[in-house]
Amino acid sequence: MAKLIRFGVSLEEELLKKFDSLLHRKRYTNRSEAIRDLIREDLVRQEWQGDGEISGAITLIYDHHKRELLEKITDIQHHYQKAIISTQHIHLDHHNCLEIIAVKGDAKKAQELADTLRSIKGVKHGTLSMSSTGRNLA
Ligand code: NI
Repeated sequence: MAKLIRFGVSLEEELLKKFDSLLHRKRYTNRSEAIRDLIREDLVRQEWQGDGEISGAITLIYDHHKRELLEKITDIQHHYQKAIISTQHIHLDHHNCLEIIAVKGDAKKAQELADTLRSIKGVKHGTLSMSSTGRNLA
C-alpha cells in the first residue's frame, strides 16, 4: 500500500463551508477522500489531453428501426476496432437500443470515435465517459 502523507490546507471559511456541503451531497464521509478524488479527476483530465493510454465508455441511444443505422454503427465500430475492447447491446424497448462501447488506448481516437457515432443521424443521445486505465492513479 502507498505511504500516506498528511499535509495542512489553508482556505477561506466560506470556501470550506461550500466544500463541506458539496462533499456531504456527494456522500463523502471525510474531506481526505473528497480531495483525493478531486486530484484524481484532474489527473484523468490531463491523461485525456496527453498521449498516454486512457480507458472509457461510449453510450448511444438509438432507434434500430431507422434505415441503415445499425449497419452504419457496425461499420464504424469495425473501422475503430483497435480502440474498442467490448461492446454491449441492450434492447431497451420495442424501438430503442442502448449500446455501451468500452474503449481503451489513444484519447484522440476514442474522442473521434465518440464524435463520429454521436453525429450519425438517428442517434438520439450519446455520451463519452472519460476514465483512466488506473495505472497512474494511487
Ligand atoms: Ni436493440
